[in-house]
Amino acid sequence: GFTQTVSAVMATTGNESTVSLNAIADVKSEKINILFGSHTGNSEVLAMNLATQAKERGLEVNVSDMASFKTRDLKTIKNLAIVVSTHGLGEPPVQAEDLHKYLHGKKAPNLSHVNFSVLGLGDSSYVDFCQTGKDFDAVLEKLGAKRLAPRQDCDVDYEEEAEVWQKVFLDAIAQTSGEVSTSENQNGVTVPVNGIKYDKKNLFEATILEKINLNATGSSKETIHLELDLAGSGITYEPGDALGVYGSNSSKLVQAVLEATNLEGREIVITDKGEKTLLDALTYDYELTPLSKTTLSKYAELTNSTRLKKILTDNKVLTQFLPGRDILDLVEEEPYRFLPNELISVLRKNTPRMYSIASSQEAVEDEVHLLVSVVRYNAFGRDKEGLCSASLADQFEVDDKVKVFVDKNTRFKLPKNPDAPIIMVGPGTGIAPFRAFMQHLEVSEKRAPSWLFFGDRNFTTDFLYQTEWQQYLKEGVLTKVDVAFSRDQANKQYVQHRMLENSKELYYWLENGAHFYVCGDAKKMAKDVDLALKQIIQQQGGVTLEKAEEYIKNLQLSNRYQADIY
Ligand code: 2AM
Repeated sequence: GFTQTVSAVMATTGNESTVSLNAIADVKSEKINILFGSHTGNSEVLAMNLATQAKERGLEVNVSDMASFKTRDLKTIKNLAIVVSTHGLGEPPVQAEDLHKYLHGKKAPNLSHVNFSVLGLGDSSYVDFCQTGKDFDAVLEKLGAKRLAPRQDCDVDYEEEAEVWQKVFLDAIAQTSGEVSTSENQNGVTVPVNGIKYDKKNLFEATILEKINLNATGSSKETIHLELDLAGSGITYEPGDALGVYGSNSSKLVQAVLEATNLEGREIVITDKGEKTLLDALTYDYELTPLSKTTLSKYAELTNSTRLKKILTDNKVLTQFLPGRDILDLVEEEPYRFLPNELISVLRKNTPRMYSIASSQEAVEDEVHLLVSVVRYNAFGRDKEGLCSASLADQFEVDDKVKVFVDKNTRFKLPKNPDAPIIMVGPGTGIAPFRAFMQHLEVSEKRAPSWLFFGDRNFTTDFLYQTEWQQYLKEGVLTKVDVAFSRDQANKQYVQHRMLENSKELYYWLENGAHFYVCGDAKKMAKDVDLALKQIIQQQGGVTLEKAEEYIKNLQLSNRYQADIY
């Protein structure tokens, strides 16, 4: 419901990135500037929501994305709210890059006239959790600004914490201005909107209609195509959006943890969701894998382990320590006799996994399709698996129900202009949103040229949705496809190699207004694709590296270079 309220605000402001919400006419009213740096649009939604709430309290509000914000305006700002997500591995999102750099640079101004607070968004399964929010919080203080409310770091399920932060900050502003807020915060942010019954807080249980492993026998991979039924839910989504899915821990791992901790499972524990058996809590409500930094810290405190504490002091060591480990490894390495409630107190709450939606409602109506790469590996002497992907692969069958919600991604969308060509780079499961794009374009009246780069390990076993791409080509929905099967020859061939081979044409497409999309692996692939793009622009445009970077930045800021990477 809350997304709806905010979209209503955004709808009236159209495409503009800087928005002034006119306050109730009151010359003496307090002002607040809200700056957001968004990656998928969540920070933007929260910023817009804060704007609505601030306005309701009679504040004069100015909300803008960080990229469009003029730094000279810092001089006149009194109250500043920063809502910023952390991108990739601890880096600021593109929108936030320049302001982040400016505030950390030599020309950074004195900000002692500013009251501020920071809301950071992130994912606590990463070591650099909310790093960008932390950076802004620290640098504003360093520049003399006064922190009116403590920074709030939010995990993937950010709504409640964001709501609390918002209230604390707005209350603090009201106090500094000597006025007590008169307009009551209408029960926080959740305003029910007609027809919307399900959201992140009120999950829909979708029935599995179809489940197929798309990799042929003999493949080194396991990628499942899922079709879920949304009938009756009223849930809608658009190409580019993601679906949040809740999985559960395998009974094998749960049993092993119980054994290692000398607990039985019948013990009653107190969770956010009330009293439960430890067995249920460990299966459904908490994560046994992967091991997060927070869990490690809590464990180190509890066990008072000098070894673990030392590891925690060095991010480099930590980044080596965490991957492949789970809570069971920790218990085996540094034994501790937990009380049942203590055990769950160190664990991360079960957090949904976001999967880029692989279908368009124009084509599949009440269904939603997902493409899930099943994570299985061996580490520290044990076979392990990804919590959610393995649930979907091993526990859930057709006719079972899965808890889901739609996570809008306003920053991964087909061009508004139907004449703009699109270039899509999506190796592996990165192909998912492009299937949604194609399904959408197939029924569109107007269609611009489209170009797909796909890659995977082997042609015969791993060409995901092969016949569909062939059909789209035949129908003219898709103009061009280039594929790279990395392990079909001695030398690895990747999507970026196909891009480089097509430099001239690719640059021509960009010069003709093409939108560039990349989806898939963030650690290596997306970086290498970005590098290839830069090379192509440098070479074909005959420009310096600096100019090529500027070209790319302009593409990003005009929404013509969009990334959905993980
Ligand atoms: P590989 O596993 O053979 O190295 C989908 O996972 C495809 O992406 C696979 O073919 C995988 O190849 C490939 N891939 C791995 N690293 C990549 C990178 N840095 N850039 C592009 N593709 C990559």
